[in-house]
Amino acid sequence: MRGSDSIRRLVAETEISVNDLVAPLFVREDIDSPQPIKSLPGIVQHSQESLLNEVAELVDLGVPGVILFGLPTHKDEIGSQAWAEDGVVQIALNELNAKFGSHISIMADLCLDEYTDHGHCGVLDEEGNVINDATIELYAQTAIAQARAGAQVIAPSGMMDGQVAAIRNALDANGYSHLPILAYSAKYASAFYGPFRDAVNVTIAGGGDRKGYQQDWHNSREAAVEVALDLAEGADMVMVKPALAYLDVISQVREQVDCPVAAYQVSGEYAMIKAAAANGWIDEQAVMFETLGAIKRAGASFILSYFSKDVAKALQ
Ligand code: PBG
Repeated sequence: MRGSDSIRRLVAETEISVNDLVAPLFVREDIDSPQPIKSLPGIVQHSQESLLNEVAELVDLGVPGVILFGLPTHKDEIGSQAWAEDGVVQIALNELNAKFGSHISIMADLCLDEYTDHGHCGVLDEEGNVINDATIELYAQTAIAQARAGAQVIAPSGMMDGQVAAIRNALDANGYSHLPILAYSAKYASAFYGPFRDAVNVTIAGGGDRKGYQQDWHNSREAAVEVALDLAEGADMVMVKPALAYLDVISQVREQVDCPVAAYQVSGEYAMIKAAAANGWIDEQAVMFETLGAIKRAGASFILSYFSKDVAKALQ
């Protein structure tokens, strides 16, 4: 049953298709040309113009989704550019939706860390701790701004309690009850996010971390609680993040729920493969397919991956 390529193809349980992929994209204010990201070879900070070209290419390749992250010029204590009508992501959403909205699902990551001057995912009290309830009000405001600008899926990644309910209520009250929420439900405080912080120019003030609100890697059952809460609050799809070091969690969540389960192959996962391949230590394309295949086999319905374009090209 393993003796030829054809029989292996016949009995294969898992396939990677272009339909499994969402490409994360970074759009930066005040640049005229795309800027490379050192720790994410092949990925760039886009200008509004280069972003349009990139999405046009992804549409041509048949990639069904993109998720946008913004790099504002102005950051402040509360992250006000996250919901500004002329904020960098809102401008991008408007243009992308007008040009490509019927061909590709345009998702908006919803968090404040790219917009706050202290780098945390919410507003802080005097001791520097995130204030949960004040933060989710700002998330609700941001969701409305993103919906107005043309986001087709709202994807909250801040791991605040009650964030999905706050966003669902705000969307419903403002005429966006049709917009689905992709909740980053089981999001771990992970060292694999390192290159992402380069990508979005975020450093957490005072060398802090997100262990106070993101999950602890020692725990898996906790993910079940987070997922159940998000679904009860109105999430339409749930996410596990990172992916490769959390295949057990993906598989457990897949058993737990009947809605789509997304997985995020994060920046550090991509960077490790790129770095090893650049040294000639591994076969990049083979490892790309093997890792994405493992994530799919664990139970992911679709995968957010910096390899999305490469996979689509390789499958053509
Ligand atoms: C938070 C956010 C992060 C990532 C996606 N959304 C960073 C964090 O939580 O610190 C990481 C994605 C990646 O590493 O590729 N806005």
